[in-house]
Amino acid sequence: MTSTRAIRTVHSVAALRDQVRHWRTDGKRIALVPTMGALHAGHVALMDVARAKADRVIVSIFVNPTQFAPTEDLSRYPRTLDSDLDKADSAGVELAFVPDVAQMYPEGFCTTISLAGPALGLETDFRPTHFAGVATVVAKLLIQALPDVALFGEKDYQQLQVIARMARDLDLPVDVVGVPTVREPDGLALSSRNVYLSREDRKAAPALHRALTAAAMRIGRDAITAPAIAEARAAITAAGFDLDYVEARHAETLAPISSSEEGPVRLLVAARIGSTRLIDNIPV
Ligand code: PAF
Repeated sequence: MTSTRAIRTVHSVAALRDQVRHWRTDGKRIALVPTMGALHAGHVALMDVARAKADRVIVSIFVNPTQFAPTEDLSRYPRTLDSDLDKADSAGVELAFVPDVAQMYPEGFCTTISLAGPALGLETDFRPTHFAGVATVVAKLLIQALPDVALFGEKDYQQLQVIARMARDLDLPVDVVGVPTVREPDGLALSSRNVYLSREDRKAAPALHRALTAAAMRIGRDAITAPAIAEARAAITAAGFDLDYVEARHAETLAPISSSEEGPVRLLVAARIGSTRLIDNIPV
């Protein structure tokens, strides 16, 4: 079957760089949307913002093994390249960079980015090697593509702060931009992992966003975070989740915060239902 897509797909860093070099010579501004595929409306929102901020948009599609622990879902992570390319094409993306593992991690690869600051606590308490894998692959993608701007979803809020901090610390010449979470009408944040939810778990899942919203309202009223967090913890557990964490953090540094008088507050949660682990967050 011949493809009617306008999007071009490249698999090697050399071909990616070649295309970027041509665009640069023509004075084009370039955006990168890094993804692991299984694209949904949340990714399309990233591509739409990318379109508005640049002349040319690249989407990378790479299920990055180094950000999965051996016990996690790497082998069952959804891989839907054909429909991903259709979605990126419909969103007006010009180039898909789809490397394989050998392209990204050639024989002998042994370098990782070491993190602190916003990487401490939250996800790291439960997935200790996760952000080193994320930061290393994102640093590679940014250096490979050298975009003017790179877009990341606020859904992975700690990831966004880790990447923004890394780009600043390493003087990567890129503007890291966060894009608000896209939600189902009942509040559930869109995620590639939502496909794992059973019908019953899917019904219970919006309780996470409801609990965060109630906590944000209470902190908005009372300023102190602890009672609102205790209430959210009880509501999430009562809805049938096994809670990993629900916390109030400073919105940029992600340091613990006990009152909204100390700075902007972000509420973050991770919880498991059935075999699925969901994360979410909202501002206060
Ligand atoms: O958010 C994701 O999909 C991934 O963590 C990312 C940023 C593409 C790195 O693999």
